[in-house]
Amino acid sequence: MPDNKNEEITEEYSMREFNLPKETEKTLISKVSEHVGEEVTIAGWMYNKRSSGKVCFLQLRDGSGFIQGVIEQDEVNEKVWNDSEEITIESSCIIKGKVKKEPRAPSGFELDVEDIQIVALAPEYPIGKKEHGPDFLFSNRDLYLRSKTPWAVLRIRDQIFLSITDFFREENFIRYDTPIFQPTSCEDTTQLFELEYYDSMMYLTQSGQLYSEAGIMGFGKVYDFGPVFRAEKSKTRHHLSELWMMDAEMAYFNQEMNMDIQEKMVKKIVKDVLENCQTELKILERDTTILEDIVKKSFIRLKHYEAKKALEEDKNFTTAVDFGDDMTTEEEIYLGNKYELPIFIEDYPFAVKAFYMKSYTDKHGVKRAVNSDLIAPEEGREIIGGSQREDDYNTLLKEINKRNYNFEDYEWYLNTRKFGSVPHSGFGIGLERTVRWISGVHHIRETIPFPRTLNRMKP
Ligand code: 4AD
Ligand code: MG
Repeated sequence: MPDNKNEEITEEYSMREFNLPKETEKTLISKVSEHVGEEVTIAGWMYNKRSSGKVCFLQLRDGSGFIQGVIEQDEVNEKVWNDSEEITIESSCIIKGKVKKEPRAPSGFELDVEDIQIVALAPEYPIGKKEHGPDFLFSNRDLYLRSKTPWAVLRIRDQIFLSITDFFREENFIRYDTPIFQPTSCEDTTQLFELEYYDSMMYLTQSGQLYSEAGIMGFGKVYDFGPVFRAEKSKTRHHLSELWMMDAEMAYFNQEMNMDIQEKMVKKIVKDVLENCQTELKILERDTTILEDIVKKSFIRLKHYEAKKALEEDKNFTTAVDFGDDMTTEEEIYLGNKYELPIFIEDYPFAVKAFYMKSYTDKHGVKRAVNSDLIAPEEGREIIGGSQREDDYNTLLKEINKRNYNFEDYEWYLNTRKFGSVPHSGFGIGLERTVRWISGVHHIRETIPFPRTLNRMKP
């Protein structure tokens, strides 16, 4: 197909004449249970159709849910019957019908259709006729978004977003937005997206953390929530180039308190999804046994050394263990399967972690970070990274010099330690990693409307 394909103007896709119902005249499919026996108007789309002789079954969706509409030829006028024959998959339509209980239907309700207005008749729909591979689905993400799996996953995402922001309000944090253009690096400098900014160079943010550290000196406890960017050359099902991160930062908090608040937040997220997203979890066929346990039990806390040692001594874990390195994918997945609970891995070797972490030297002479990564079970991998921050001006300055970072770039950040430093801690949770784990979908690209990965930037 040529790149600059320009389709001819055609009447084919025009909208028809129809009456736009007022907000108050419409009923959401998610609310039909409140209208049993009544006539309702639903404005939506037809996502599937089946007919057998004199009966036609329309599968309808309106964004809030799914319901089956039934049309019997003998019960409706000719126009309605003809429209039911003409309507195609993904045509938009306004349907009037009477709500009735139907225990066999997934939603528990059905619609006896009395009237159909076709708003726009869709041409042959490219998705849904047969099984499609992920490449096809994501090349057509604009249309694929209408399917049931994305519907369920992205509604769970919405719930998790809401749970996190509710949680921080309850805990007396303020929302504090950090810049997306940043002149310095927060995490690994090899993963920065660089861009021209007027006459100089800038980076796209990897995390708002450094700015949140300045924020707590004014507000005590802050959080941000926004897109961050990682130029990671990883093609795994856990990596995105653009993701949404929530960074929380707390003054007068040590690492123990940091883990406690993370545990409380993750429990709230899981509890809220279990309570409010039952339809979505059912669509995804998510087995929620382990999630239900998580709400009730304490999370596991293991030092990095203990975790590596346990893996090394485990007869069923056959890969070589490197005590000086980060946790590998296999190690995180193995531990998650073993404990079936979220696991805090604490005190990583400082050498593999960021410059801002507080550190100490252990009895074997290994310099360790005062930090934790939270590993989710069921192949969820690391969903949170956090630490106590180095609060001493001179220690932090020495580390900045040691890593050859430019003093001028970090001078403002060092001011947080120069003027009234306090012990403080914080963490960042990756929204898509969390959605992937809780929804149970295989690949992280399912968890964001339009994923950006190493090899996908369209549509
Ligand atoms: O562990 P990370 O790199 O930590 C930070 O950026 C800290 N500054 C956060 C803080 O303390 N305020 O990233 C935090 C989380 C990870 O645990 C993971 O969930 C997610 O962000 N994440 C990614 N998710 C998807 N794709 C990627 N490429 C990700 N990189 C990080
Ligand atoms: Mg991390």
